[in-house]
Amino acid sequence: MNEVYEKLKKCYGAVEKRVDFKPELALVLGSGLGDFCDTMDVKDVLPYNEIEGFPVSTVAGHKGQFVFGYSDGVPIVAMQGRVHYYEGYPVQDVVLPTRLMHLMGAKTLFLTNAAGGINPSFHAGDFMLICDHITLSVPSPLIGANIEELGTRFPDMSEVYSRRLRTVIENSAAAEGVPLRRGVYIQTTGPNYETPAEIRAYGRLGADAVGMSTAVEAIAARHCGMEVCGISCISNLAAGISSNPLSHKEVQETADRAAPLFKKLVRRAISEIVSRG
Ligand code: HPA
Repeated sequence: MNEVYEKLKKCYGAVEKRVDFKPELALVLGSGLGDFCDTMDVKDVLPYNEIEGFPVSTVAGHKGQFVFGYSDGVPIVAMQGRVHYYEGYPVQDVVLPTRLMHLMGAKTLFLTNAAGGINPSFHAGDFMLICDHITLSVPSPLIGANIEELGTRFPDMSEVYSRRLRTVIENSAAAEGVPLRRGVYIQTTGPNYETPAEIRAYGRLGADAVGMSTAVEAIAARHCGMEVCGISCISNLAAGISSNPLSHKEVQETADRAAPLFKKLVRRAISEIVSRG
């Protein structure tokens, strides 16, 4: 068996033994959304470090656990904390949690993150519905022997972020009165922020926001047939768009300030996605 798949199956075995819960939707909580689970009817919690071989995040402020429970009656698994490529894990490990949530039974992957705004009309604290993505410096998580059990060698990526889910999320945002922008997300490796020249280049390539996660997770999810959607919290204006130097503290503070609205939007969207699924 393929090594990557073997490790995944081993992790799944550990989860299966420990947790009796079948999620319909998988939610990845980005900066600011860490306490989303306070609004859930939590049934079980599984710290990542209890799963042998599972990549554990080293970023301050990122908890590391799966939370299983109901969000307004919808059975979900939420990831409190994710690993990033810049932490040094191979990209196949970065997407292991996504694949694991697929094996748990989740049909939908809902990705959230904090991102820098490239589009000059964006402001810190805005939310952006991810309509598509660009990966430039990050390798595909599908490199290596294909895992036939999960998906095809050359998966189509012409609609990574489901049109159906995008419509549901836009309607949810309107219903909650939360302004929602749309745009293209570009994933860089990080951990350094970009230079102003890079941001100008990314803008010309068609990117509206930049971050260090999400696209590889979305690719792995599409490969195994999950329906994917995502929202970015614009936590700062990207380098050179604002004259201020960027800091992780600023990113975190803005994401925390936007969190109440973000939670409201995500919660409503989840209930609409599954009730209309
Ligand atoms: N660049 C990259 N990643 C980010 C940013 C940024 O400006 N803000 C939040 N995550």
